Amino acid sequence: MMESRSSCPHQDLGGRFDPLDLRDPFPALAHAQAQQPVFYSPAIDYWVVTRHADIKAIFRDHHRYSAANTITPIVPFSDAVKRLLAVGDYTPEPVLSNNVPPGHTRIRSLVNRLFTPRRMNSFAPVIRQIARDAVAQLGSPPVDIVPALTYTFPAQVLFAVLGVPEADVPQVKAWASSRIKLYYGRPSAEEQLKMTADLVPFWRYVVALVADKAQSPGDDLTSDLIRMRADDDHVLSLNEIASCMITLLVAGHETTTAQLSNALLHLLGNPPQSPHQDGGRQRQAESRQDLPPNDLGGPRGVDHSLWQSLCQQPALIPQALEEMMRYDPSVCAWRRLSLVPSSIGGVDIPAGANLLLMLNAANRDPALFPEPDVICLTRDNLKDQLAFGYGIHYCVGAPLARLEMRILLETLLAELPSLRLVAGQEFNYTRNISFRGPLSLWVSW
Ligand code: HEM
Repeated sequence: MMESRSSCPHQDLGGRFDPLDLRDPFPALAHAQAQQPVFYSPAIDYWVVTRHADIKAIFRDHHRYSAANTITPIVPFSDAVKRLLAVGDYTPEPVLSNNVPPGHTRIRSLVNRLFTPRRMNSFAPVIRQIARDAVAQLGSPPVDIVPALTYTFPAQVLFAVLGVPEADVPQVKAWASSRIKLYYGRPSAEEQLKMTADLVPFWRYVVALVADKAQSPGDDLTSDLIRMRADDDHVLSLNEIASCMITLLVAGHETTTAQLSNALLHLLGNPPQSPHQDGGRQRQAESRQDLPPNDLGGPRGVDHSLWQSLCQQPALIPQALEEMMRYDPSVCAWRRLSLVPSSIGGVDIPAGANLLLMLNAANRDPALFPEPDVICLTRDNLKDQLAFGYGIHYCVGAPLARLEMRILLETLLAELPSLRLVAGQEFNYTRNISFRGPLSLWVSW
């Protein structure tokens, strides 16, 4: 006899939710937050957590909720994939994102010293030059600004900072996006093998890079890390440095590429979409109708984008970027592993359960952010947004991400004040659970 699905509303919610469909996750998440803030998703065998308070409490409690599963493939590796990795001497180890104390504490305390705001600021002139050159090379409008700018700029910056040859940007970007699909998407067996075939040369590349820097160090963060180890494996081994490098060569640009694309999409004003493509924003536009217009993010039409407000008041750029990270964080969800039985939002969670923490839902939790679907540059609690995580794993690259995004926006506003979105385009997103950014964004000026 068939079981009636409607008899269990919790199961219904989890059954309908597709965690890999990132086209417009916001209406479903708002519904879940109000009706069933913690629910089970059979599609990926994860418990999905949507409220800000629950997510922050989980991030804070690394004794009960470990980060060990943050780079676990959603589709477990097949035996063929495992063989390919073994033959390829693929030996990265947990160092940062999926490491736990005390190993994480040891490595993180060293890596923290690389990414201080002061050290990052010393790279500001280089970053500004990269931004100017990139904007100057945009060509004639209309331009798809993702491949033309936001795809490469963060990698060019990161490579300058880490001392990696700029000529390798296209290859590393291709490897990194393959790695994201492998770990955070749902590849077929054939795709999984193909993506794994990319992992092996990527790993060999970082091993060779670290060996190179150990031989001839420079004025860059990779060399700084090698100097810190002072030839002592107890401080940091070369394999751990290579593992940090492969992490940084994914986390350090794919995130920022997507965040910049999200920010430009919203700051330039989003032309109306069909309900299928953009139901959430349509709902948002409707809910804004009775609000008074203002210069800092109240209801606006295509003619009065936030872009113009920022042109007039560039001092608002840092605040605008924080609001963009709240409104549409590029790392839309992150993971934790429950180590002991616990209760989250009143739901019993067993030990060993995987948790998917919806950062994009937390950042639109009305308990903390009034009118969460409205972009507003005058919010006074943006420090509470969780786009960079929270606690011991808080994004180590946040100072670099903030600096480079600010510089690129300043450059674009100065050089292309009339920048606008081309109307009538569709926005597509890679199917995966964690990284959200439009794959193309046509602009004109
Ligand atoms: C806007 C861009 C970025 C966003 C939205 C972002 C977001 C995040 C998030 C959500 C986490 C997980 C935090 C947690 O588990 O509590 C994280 C961790 C991390 N991020 Fe970022 N990130 C960005 C840019 C960068 C950059 C530029 C770098 C490096 C240059 C970087 C390197 C890392 C690393 C290494 C970790 C792991 C830290 C640890 O586990 O101790 N990220 N990031």
